[in-house]
This record gives sequence, C-alpha cells and structure tokens, in this order.
Amino acid sequence: MTDSNQHPLYSVSIIGLGLIGGSWVKALRERGVIGRVVGFDRNQDSMQQAVQLGVIDEYAASAQAAVSDADIVIISVPILACRDILLEIKGSLPLSAIVTDVGSVKGNVARDIQEIFTESESSNFVLGHPIAGSERSGIKAVDSTLYENHTVILTPLESTSLEAVQVVKYLWQSVGAKVEEMGAMHHDEVLAATSHLPHLLAYSLVDTLAHSHENKEIFNYAAGGFRDFTRIAASSPKMWHDIFTANKHAVLDALDMFNTDLAVLREAVASSDGNAMMGIFTRAKVARDHFSKILARRAYVEPMKDKQVNFIANPGGKLSGSLRVPGDKSISHRSIMLGSLAEGTTEVTGFLEGEDSLATLQAFRDMGVVIEGPHRGRVTIHGVGLHGLQAPPNTLYLGNSGTSMRLLSGLLAGQSFSVELTGDESLSGRPMNRVADPLREMGAVIETAEQGRPPMVIKGGKKLNGINYALPMASAQVKSCVLLAGLYAQGETVVTEPAPTRDHTERMLKGFGYDVNVNGNKVSLMPGGKLTATSIDVPSDISSAAFFMVAASIAPDSDITLEHVGLNPTRVGVINILKLMGANIDVLNEREVGGEPVADIRIQSAELKGIDIPEDQVPLAIDEFPAIFIAAACAEGTTILTGAEELRVKESDRIQVMVDGLQILGVNAKATEDGAIIEGFGAQDLMGGGEVVSHGDHRIAMSFAIASLRANQSIKILDCANVSTSFPGFVELAQNCGMHVKLEARS
Ligand code: S3P
Repeated sequence: MTDSNQHPLYSVSIIGLGLIGGSWVKALRERGVIGRVVGFDRNQDSMQQAVQLGVIDEYAASAQAAVSDADIVIISVPILACRDILLEIKGSLPLSAIVTDVGSVKGNVARDIQEIFTESESSNFVLGHPIAGSERSGIKAVDSTLYENHTVILTPLESTSLEAVQVVKYLWQSVGAKVEEMGAMHHDEVLAATSHLPHLLAYSLVDTLAHSHENKEIFNYAAGGFRDFTRIAASSPKMWHDIFTANKHAVLDALDMFNTDLAVLREAVASSDGNAMMGIFTRAKVARDHFSKILARRAYVEPMKDKQVNFIANPGGKLSGSLRVPGDKSISHRSIMLGSLAEGTTEVTGFLEGEDSLATLQAFRDMGVVIEGPHRGRVTIHGVGLHGLQAPPNTLYLGNSGTSMRLLSGLLAGQSFSVELTGDESLSGRPMNRVADPLREMGAVIETAEQGRPPMVIKGGKKLNGINYALPMASAQVKSCVLLAGLYAQGETVVTEPAPTRDHTERMLKGFGYDVNVNGNKVSLMPGGKLTATSIDVPSDISSAAFFMVAASIAPDSDITLEHVGLNPTRVGVINILKLMGANIDVLNEREVGGEPVADIRIQSAELKGIDIPEDQVPLAIDEFPAIFIAAACAEGTTILTGAEELRVKESDRIQVMVDGLQILGVNAKATEDGAIIEGFGAQDLMGGGEVVSHGDHRIAMSFAIASLRANQSIKILDCANVSTSFPGFVELAQNCGMHVKLEARS
C-alpha cells in the first residue's frame, strides 16, 4: 500500500472482467483513488480489452497470481463461479488483503466463505451488491459513471472487521454511490421480491406468449404494456440462471406468495367480482405511485428523519387577496372512516390530501375497503358496511396522526380481527390510555407500550358492552373513540363531556343516517343501526385558516378573505378570542354545507390588545393556540392563558415549545402548568429574528412562519416537514398572499 497525500493508494486485483466490476475499477482509477490494478479473466480477449480500455494496468496468468500483491481483491465473476475462485485464491491471498464482490445474491457467497476460510481469515471479507446495471454487458460496456447516485448494499459477515467495511464503503462512496448495510439473508429476501421475482415473471410471460400458436399476432400488436412489463426478459440468461439457482429458497417464497395472490385475482376476474378487482388495482396503483415518488426522490409519507425541511421566514410583508386553505382534517378523517363503514358508495369532495388523513385512508385500504382517489380532493369510497372490514396484512402505520390512532382504536375494538397500530416518533410518545381505559371498561382487550404509549394492539373478537362514560378531559378524539366502539357494543353508549368539543363525529353519523342523541353535554347511541352512503363536501379547515387570520391581523395594511371555511360552533374559539383581542374579522356569506356551517371570512389588520383568554373558549380553539400565541406576542399588554394543559400532549408540548421559541425571538413569555403568560410588545415594536425549533409539530412551524411578519430579522424554523400532515402547499399559499416565507435551499 503506497501512501498518497490523503488516502492510501490501494493496489487492486480484479477477478472477472465484466461491466459491473470493470466500471467500478475504472471509476476508482479516474478519481485517483487506487494505484496499480492487476486483472484476471478466463477469457484472454477480455483481459486484453481491459488493458486497452484503461481498466487494468496488466493481467495475470492466474487468479492466484493476480491477488498475490493486492490490498483489495474484487471478485466480479458470475455468481456460481465464485466458490471456485475463492478456493483457487485461498492460498495466495495476502493476510491483510480486503476481499469484496459485486454479485446479486449474497447468502451463498457468505456460506462459501464460512466453509472455505477460518473466522479470522474471513474478517477481511466485505460482500457487496451494487444496485445498478445496464442491458449491455461485458468489459466493452464499462462506464465509470455507472454508480453515481446508485445504492450499494454491503452485507458484512459477523466476523467482518469494521475497518474492512469502512475501506469498501469508502471505495464505493468515492465513485458517487450511496452505501447501505444489511444482513446477507435479509438482502436475499428483499432482492428476491423486488428484483428476482419480476425477472422470473417477465421471462415466463414472454416464453408463454412466444410459444403460443398466436404468437405472431401477439407480437405484431404488442404495445406499451407488453414492452414495459417484459423489457427485463432481454437480460442475460446465464446471469439469471445463476441468480435463481443461488437464491432458490427466497425466490420460491416470493413466488408462492405471488401465486396465492394471483389465484385471488383470477377468482375475482372469473366471478366478475368488481369490488375485489378494484380493491387490488387501487391498492396497487397507490403503491406504485408511492414508489414512483420515492424513485423520483420526492417526499411522501417518509419517516421524518429522512426529511430535513426548514423554513426561512424573512421579515415584513402584508397579506392581500382571497384564498382557500385545504380541507378540514377532522372531517376528512371521519369521511373515510364512516364512508368505509357505510353501505354504498360515498363521494367526498374537498378532502384534505395531507399525510394525516392519507394515513387514515391507507389504513382502510389495508382493511380491504376500495377507495378511489384522492384526486384534487375527490375521493370515492366503496363502503363495506359496519361488519365488512377485513384483517389488514400488516401493522397499520399512522404516521403523525393522533386522530387516526384514537378514533380507529374505538372502531377496531369491535372487529373480529386483531390489529396493531403504530406511528412516528411524536405519535409514539402520546398518551393512549385516555382511549384504552374506556375501551377496556367496555370489554375490549388492548395492549400498549409503557405508560399507555403506542404501539397499541387491539384484540379482535371481544364482546363490547355500552358504557356511560364521563370524559375526564375535554377531548373530541376520546368522545369519538367511545362512540365508534358503541356502534359495536351491546346496549346504549353514553358519553358526557366536561366542556363542548368538536362534534363532527356526531354530525357525520347523523349525515350517514345513524341515530345519535345529543342532549346538552351528553351524547348517546345504540348499536344495531346502519350507515347509508352519502356525499360529503369538506369545508376548509378553520385550524389552517387560523394562521392567516392571525397573519392578516398582525401585519399592517393587510386585507384578505378566506373562502369556504368550516365554522362549526365547536371550532370557532379562535375567531372569538381574536375578536376579544380587537381583531377586525367579518364573517360573510354564511351557509350550511352537508350538515356543517361554512362562511367566507374577511380579516383586516388591527391593533391587538392582550387579554385573559376565557377558559370556556379553550376546547373550541384547542389547535389554534400556537397561532394565538403569536397574536398575543404582537398585542399591546399581557395575554394570559389558563386551563389549557391539554396543549402539553399534542404533537409537541405546545406550551413549552411556543414559549421557548418566543423567548428566542425576544418576547417576554412564560410557561405555566396549564397555559402561558405572554407580554405583547405592541403595535409600535417588532420581534427579533433567530432560529427556532418546531419539534416536528406542523402548527408550531406555521406559527413561527407568520411571526416573521412582525420581526425585524429572519426567522429560521427547523424541522418543518410535518407541515404536510395538515397543510400541504402552505409555503406557496403564504407566498401568494404576501408573506416572505420559503423553504431553505438544501445543500
Ligand atoms: C381532533 C380533536 C382534538 C384536536 C385534534 C383533532 C379530532 O384532539 O386537537 O387535532 O379530530 O377529533 P383532542 O381530542 O385530543 O383534544
């Protein structure tokens, strides 16, 4: 090994001179990462061409001779030839040489190494699989850019040393590849499903069609579908023979799974079962669209840690124009739930295409409900009736959505099958005993992690009894959970609330023709009814509109109209509170749409004043406090919030996180156990700028974005990816009406 200035210049030996290994070595040479390269191939022509193409410096007479002085040995022979090569080079490998390979199957090579080498000898073996290729093959096709932005999977053995892994990782990264690690067996299972099975099917389909007596006809008219599906049947037969032989068991498992599902689809076609066909096709389409987005490196419902989204909110700006914010999240969730349990087809318009409501939608698809869309807010749900849900194939993953988990838990407690519910890091920290406790009282069997946190396992086949439940806290989610369980219980279910909370579940149940009795603070229902499909027009979400209400109030010279906003009386706390603070808000064009009051809201700037927020408004504005805190910071005088301890268990501890952020911006704010005290700086002054953290909470992120309207410097808001849970398109809409907020450019 010769030392260069920065990295050692490894001397490399490559056994097998083809496209895959040759392209790697060529790229390493061009980037000056490696020194001398000696090659060996059973084919003399390939060796000569490799020298001419500058892939290797020289070739050796045997594999043993090629490896005898190497720091790095790259084995890139056909998979089934690998064992013989390992046996051949065993005696000639220098003790310190690191050995790696590039084959598509890893388990068989790992076994061979363990059989042929001792544990300490095998510590220098780092098996790898670059996920890249080309329909072309052979050394002539080498391409030094082949691995740029492609993934390479390394499958180290238990005995492999960390240093050896680091070296091979470095060699891949230096040619532009992204390196991941996994176990060899897991690799083979994953690849069997995602790569090997599709190749097997393509070969088989083309072969079947080619020897059918109609083949001429078929190939004459073969258009896009045939071409797209069978392109990979033109790949190297020898290579695929080796892959299927080496990865036999995993391929057979994947094939068996496919056969079972194919038989189900065959039966659906044979019996003209349109519902079953639509179920398979809509689920597959959604999955394919999802994969396309991932392949195009666009965000979808990806784990938060993969998405680093920050906002930069530049100071100043005023708001003007008319805008419509996205659909109501609470109503969107419920439209999917009740539409799925209804008899007949429910059409939804204005559906919120945010990650939270999409998580609910996906959960019902997983439970066998055929749901078309969403397409521009339009969703068609083919209801399965109260008893038509099926066991999902897997855990239901609900992302960031507390509403999905809490409402679903009630509905699932009454099913015949068991289900596990999980969510992201934020949801996994939220309290679920508030729903598990009453459900257990009804007879449900529910497991949670420590302190009642998710995951939740809800056992199926349990008999539920109606209860008379006094809610210990004002929570629409808990109320709705118990009512939904009540649909499946014996006898009456009664819920009493300590204060009014959003009543969308009650309204929508009635809209679906289900008898719900509301008497003061008591809501009750009996089991045994049915839901009849209907149409639902989801109004704009007042919780999303709230950011613009505050924004237009605090930014001088603003005048905006928010269209078609849901004004359910259990949600209008934000308007009441802002009006008490002196906001200039007009409610125009009031109407009722599908059982929910709706209006347009005009907001003009105003000089706000601090107030003691009336506690009876707290449940009616529970999601809007982050925005109201910003209004309070801009007001003249002190605003005091009490009775709002529920804010501490939202997507983040909204009391603490808002107070922390406001302090960073120079606002005198103090957290109390159940609220906050905020000294407003008044109409003549401005907040400072700075860097605040949203803690992955969508509403915190949007609140600090509007704060910039009254800041004297930029505000950078970290961790804003979850804005898409409730408000996709927030940044664009904010820009369009005059705010200076943007996504931070990514390096
Ligand atoms: C919701 C109820 C509220 C609210 C949440 C949506 C609902 O939660 O904060 O965003 O759709 O029922 P709680 O019931 O926990 O107050």
